Amino acid sequence: MKKAFITGITGQDGSYLAELLLNKGYEVHGLIRRSSTFNTDRIDHLYRDSHEPNSKIFLHYGDLSVSGQIMDLLHSIEPAEIYHLGAQSHVRVSFDIPEYTCDITGLGTLRILEAIRKSGIKTKFYQASSSEMFGAAPPPQSEKTIFQPRSPYAAAKVFAYYIAQNYRDAYGIFASNGILFNHESPRRGETFVTRKITRAATQIKLGLKDKLYLGNLEAKRDWGFAGDYVEAMWLMLQQNTPDDYVIATGETYSVREFVQRVFSKLDLDYNKHVIVDPRYFRPTEVDVLLGDAAKAKKILGWKPKVNFEKLIDMMIASDMELAKKEKTLVDAGFPCNSSERMT
Ligand code: NAP
Ligand code: GDD
Repeated sequence: MKKAFITGITGQDGSYLAELLLNKGYEVHGLIRRSSTFNTDRIDHLYRDSHEPNSKIFLHYGDLSVSGQIMDLLHSIEPAEIYHLGAQSHVRVSFDIPEYTCDITGLGTLRILEAIRKSGIKTKFYQASSSEMFGAAPPPQSEKTIFQPRSPYAAAKVFAYYIAQNYRDAYGIFASNGILFNHESPRRGETFVTRKITRAATQIKLGLKDKLYLGNLEAKRDWGFAGDYVEAMWLMLQQNTPDDYVIATGETYSVREFVQRVFSKLDLDYNKHVIVDPRYFRPTEVDVLLGDAAKAKKILGWKPKVNFEKLIDMMIASDMELAKKEKTLVDAGFPCNSSERMT
């Protein structure tokens, strides 16, 4: 049985990837942070008590800021594949906590690569690189586009990208970068713009709130479905040689278009509910992301299955179920937690 190690297993991508690998018969090990509240919601449906026979998912406490422990874990687990997804992944927040972001998102990658090198284990390494690295570079962006990072998060990811390449060249480690464009799902964190919109619109539809405060509505993103994108990660590590791949849909839409479509699918007029709040602007913005995934299509045989409309429908359906549960609670006299989040 193949063993995989996933950092960031409690995140959006980590949960879909764990599902995919378990379905393929892998034994899955994940790194999780100790937290005062449960942070395993996204993988609770996969987790079985490790005391039970045939458990195939194992969680290990740790943190990307601590190298010794990562080394011990890799040494004892000896995974055939490592998917490094853990990161401080919020771009706006990276302007508030740049040093922490660079430590976790940038140096975290180096800590894992060093653990691979020093432990001498034979493994394949996936680095969660990002289209955010392209920053100000004009679209369409491909593997050949020069990075022009526009945030501490992007700068940290650029470091991680190059250090993965360097360990590949210097030490012969199988390290591949997946340069993934934005990908969303019903499990997307609620402070990322797509989920923030589908959450609020469904709450507005049921009368649980009235206003949605957003930042820059003109930015354009190439949005895909997270479930499709984790398949690309897996495919990259099934190749005979390591390489770097752009993963994208090849379509781009503005935040305004996303809002407008979500609200109109719910028979709502977004102009009556959406308010632009400069609090959500970024000191430097990435205006347009549009990926060219021709290389991944040709070499990995990968292409997205879920299109923009289907993605929106999926997110609305899931958030409507959540809003209905909230409404039941509100109708029973419990307060609704629909206050604005920090970002
Ligand atoms: P996410 O939902 O924010 O998940 C991030 C994961 O990293 C969570 O499991 C989080 O743990 C973990 N983490 C954060 N800080 C950590 C630390 N100090 N030590 C250990 N674990 C830590 O992100 P995602 O959307 O799944 O993205 C996965 C990866 O792909 C990230 O590296 C992201 O930067 C990158 N990426 C994402 C996209 C996208 O559109 N989603 C596109 C390109 C690249 P907690 O649950 O405890 O917070
Ligand atoms: N989060 C957020 N909240 N973004 C907003 C808002 C708001 O209220 N209003 C407008 N936006 C705009 C942002 O300014 C940005 O241009 C766009 O919506 C998308 O923002 P996010 O959903 O936060 O995603 P991101 O593109 O900054 O970063 C995501 O994608 C990257 C890949 O390109 C994250 O998942 C990163 O981790 C990932 O690397």
